[in-house]
Amino acid sequence: METLFSAVNLSKVFKLKKRSRGLGRHRTVTAVDDITFDVNVGETFGIVGESGCGKTTTARMIVQLEKATSGRMIFEDVDMTTLGRKQIKQMRQHVQMIFQDPYSSLNPVKTLDYLVSEPLKIHKIYNNKKELKDKVRHTMNEVGLQSTDDWLSKRPTELSGGERQRVGIAKALVLDPEFVVADEPVSMLDASVRAEIVNLMLNVKEIKDLTYIFITHEFDVAYAICDRIAVMYAGSIIELGSSEEVIHSPLHPYTQLLLEAVPPLRPDKTWGDNIAKGECAYYIQVPSGCKYQARCGQIKESCTQERPPLVEKTPGHFVACAEC
Ligand SMILES: Nc1ncnc2c1ncn2[C@@H]1O[C@H](COP(=O)(O)OP(=O)(O)OP(=O)(O)O)[C@@H](O)[C@H]1O
Ligand SMILES: [Mg+2]
Repeated sequence: METLFSAVNLSKVFKLKKRSRGLGRHRTVTAVDDITFDVNVGETFGIVGESGCGKTTTARMIVQLEKATSGRMIFEDVDMTTLGRKQIKQMRQHVQMIFQDPYSSLNPVKTLDYLVSEPLKIHKIYNNKKELKDKVRHTMNEVGLQSTDDWLSKRPTELSGGERQRVGIAKALVLDPEFVVADEPVSMLDASVRAEIVNLMLNVKEIKDLTYIFITHEFDVAYAICDRIAVMYAGSIIELGSSEEVIHSPLHPYTQLLLEAVPPLRPDKTWGDNIAKGECAYYIQVPSGCKYQARCGQIKESCTQERPPLVEKTPGHFVACAEC
């Protein structure tokens, strides 16, 4: 299997404003904490985890909207973390993002024509106006939207949520990227249009030979479309493996906890004895040892002392738990 993208010991620490309340002397948030993973050419790599675990920050670092604090990101053998502004711009042609919120990510006063042609203009990859227009129309059709002048002159406010997200997808695809990072692309949509958008993403992936990182907090969505899944907790990857293994043989107590919340996926199974439910770790002040210790039902003394590394338990199935 050929690797398209690697994150190596990638971290993001946000500095908080001096007057942030209730934080005492803690002035930083470790949003992403030393994560390492590979994405293979042609796969859909899922990142799953609760709100605040660092999914969007990871996505924003990959598409270079956020600078990594430390670590490396290798895309097609190029270390993205060392690039200058001009090279970052070139890289963006190849690595695109689909945003979570189709309401706020599209400028409401611009026409669809403007929004979808903008990336082509920024990257100056058309020879003449006809070519520009043809590319925009073609991309509109690819995402299942009309490409008439009438439609292209509409504004996002005239569209439904599903149509807006199709425009968001068109903006990402119009540059013909190889790698698309989709940050919860269906979570803001009505249940009735979610499957349509997921199917659209799967169809264009086949047609255009794309590789996806698909971020979601829903395991059923991840199971439906991802080849492999990384589960994040408080900025760390705590389990990584094929979707089948992570969902049908979860190793980490946290993955088991998340899966218990989606009964349709595992009607046959509860891991109840192992699990203590509770709040997400407060990772402004990270505990020594395992980050999950305060919630875990199987805690041992060693769990409070050393942070468990991500270890390969069976081929391709990794877990960060000393007791699993
Ligand atoms: N610009 C920022 N400044 C300070 N803290 C931030 C910033 N962006 C994110 N954070 C913090 O980093 C942590 C991870 O945030 P992130 O948005 O990556 O989580 P997420 O997994 O995408 O959550 P959600 O599921 O709610 O979208 C959170 O504690 C968040 O408050
Ligand atoms: Mg997010």
